[in-house]
Amino acid sequence: MTQPINLFEYESLAKEKLSGMAWDYYRSGALDEITLRKNRTVFEQYELYPKMLVDVSNIDLSTNILGQTLSMPLGVAPMAFQCLAHPDGEKATAKVLSDLKTLLILSTLSTTSLEDVAACQSHNLRWFQLYIHRDKGLTKALVERAEKAGYTALCVTVDAPMMGRREADVRNQFTLPSHLQLANLVSLTDLAIPSTIGESGLFAYFQQQIDPSITWKDLEWLQSITNLPIVLKGILRADDAILAVKNGVKGIIISNHGGRQLDGVIASLDALPNIVNAVGDKIDILMDGGIRRGTDIFKALALGAKAVLIGRPILWGLAVNGEAGVNHILQLLKDELILAMALSGCPNIRKINDSFLIK
Ligand code: GLV
Repeated sequence: MTQPINLFEYESLAKEKLSGMAWDYYRSGALDEITLRKNRTVFEQYELYPKMLVDVSNIDLSTNILGQTLSMPLGVAPMAFQCLAHPDGEKATAKVLSDLKTLLILSTLSTTSLEDVAACQSHNLRWFQLYIHRDKGLTKALVERAEKAGYTALCVTVDAPMMGRREADVRNQFTLPSHLQLANLVSLTDLAIPSTIGESGLFAYFQQQIDPSITWKDLEWLQSITNLPIVLKGILRADDAILAVKNGVKGIIISNHGGRQLDGVIASLDALPNIVNAVGDKIDILMDGGIRRGTDIFKALALGAKAVLIGRPILWGLAVNGEAGVNHILQLLKDELILAMALSGCPNIRKINDSFLIK
């Protein structure tokens, strides 16, 4: 196999390696996939506007999120069931991020337990993504375990009171193969992803288990049971971002869940400017959605994100070459970002701003 040289080549190779059900699950967006496509095409609407004759011999990528130093403004979004892509799954991802000293967000729906993932890391740049279940005792137990295992924030996904309808998953009646399980939940309950029920098993899981009644009031409950900072993932509107600040939230991830929830929703990149204007000086703002190139990261930072996250490319890296594939994906993006900064005449990530962009 010739070594892929960009994220798109990894995606093509991953398709050959994955089962049809796993490929469809990872790749799909909701319904007509309008948002899935828009998350990518939106980057082409912004042109770079570089400065010349700037000394770019030293490029510093490090940044600070929630008081922790990241080696670069790029981390990994929470993604369910990573052992579907490769037997090493979440462990491989965690090891790479430990070596690279940047942020991992582990999904509630991981196929490796949060404790086993933590044991793969030599630092604690890791947050736990929380789906608030109807069973508050179970939710509380997850929070307590995340605290104990050294996760440094809770990332509450707020765009999924119900699961988006991904039609390939309906057709495939998506479920987990029998050797994989909901590793964070098995020790607490006998919950599993339902199978052969005429629809996506994950959709059914959400209907049965995830609490669709969650509001800002429930954040108070969460804050009453934990000292961990709370980050909200899935905010798209400035008024919600303002409410997040008012409610003591420490960070937000501007995200549309990789186009997998409400189809037709605004692209993450387009949601940035209003939110940055409203709360950029009060709260750490991250974004995910469609990042496939270093120039995409540059554009997101220019619009005010402090860091970005990638999702699917990590799964493509895992599928193609396990831990080495994940490492290569992140290295490719890092090198592309360094090049974008050098060629834009902006060697310092704190100085990337909207003067480097034209829409
Ligand atoms: C899970 O959160 C998914 O988007 O499939």
